Amino acid sequence: MITGSAVGIGRAMAYRFAEAGADLDLVDMNIKGLGLVKKELSRFESEIDIHKVDLSREEEVDALWEELSGKEPDILVNNAGIYPFKNFLKVDDAFLKKVIDINLRSALLMCQYMIRKRLKRGGVIINIGSIEAIVPIAEDLIPYDISKTGVIALTKALAKQYGRNGFRINIILPGGITTPGTKAVAKEVARFKMGPLKTGIEFAMRLPLRRGGQPDEVARIALVLASDLSSYVHGALIPVDGGFLSA
Ligand SMILES: NC(=O)c1ccc[n+]([C@@H]2O[C@H](COP(=O)([O-])OP(=O)(O)OC[C@H]3O[C@@H](n4cnc5c(N)ncnc54)[C@H](O)[C@@H]3O)[C@@H](O)[C@H]2O)c1
Repeated sequence: MITGSAVGIGRAMAYRFAEAGADLDLVDMNIKGLGLVKKELSRFESEIDIHKVDLSREEEVDALWEELSGKEPDILVNNAGIYPFKNFLKVDDAFLKKVIDINLRSALLMCQYMIRKRLKRGGVIINIGSIEAIVPIAEDLIPYDISKTGVIALTKALAKQYGRNGFRINIILPGGITTPGTKAVAKEVARFKMGPLKTGIEFAMRLPLRRGGQPDEVARIALVLASDLSSYVHGALIPVDGGFLSA
């Protein structure tokens, strides 16, 4: 099961996983996008089910797992996320809640369901964090940074606690990947919004590979983490960032 799989990194993961023969439950609030992905994946033999879910709404997450009852996935990728910029001094409760609910609380709820439902069978969980949680390079992205730092803590704590139950749990930290989400941020830069512009310049200057990444470059690592090729990788933070965190 891959969340946020209508576009961007999640969509690329859906491609790679389907190509590798996995049956998929694709989850997103963008049902139109999911429909397109499903159509494009029809060339593979995998069975693809799509689910319209707003992951920030607990009742919708509950309904999803109710629907999956008896056929719970053995691999869960918590990828859905938002990264809205807002002047820190103007961040209010509603804004903070929205970012935390989508990026952190939904990942927690999904992990909770996955572990509860598969406690005796185990499985693989891959969370998607961000380099921002390690080095907060972007200005005015503080609620996001907090949410993704929380997802790292969630990943490590669950790995410690549930490895013995047969779960393998890791987190990928992407950075600088070109997706519809980051393209929307780039548009802000084009309008000379100072925060994103400064971030873009600083980011590019520090980036050892000197290019943006493609969603598939994250998807390929997710596929390895989902498979037994990574059978002894557990509780790990894996940057896919063109070397950004190393520089
Ligand atoms: N692109 C990058 O460079 C980058 C860097 C660091 C981390 N990330 C993380 O990777 C993940 C994917 O990023 P992306 O760039 O592909 O994003 P994107 O904005 O291109 O796509 C995100 C997807 O998540 C879905 N989504 C958002 N809120 C949802 C909700 N409440 N319920 C269900 N679905 C929801 C959207 O509809 C969309 O399909 C995010 O968690 C993001 O924080 C991305």
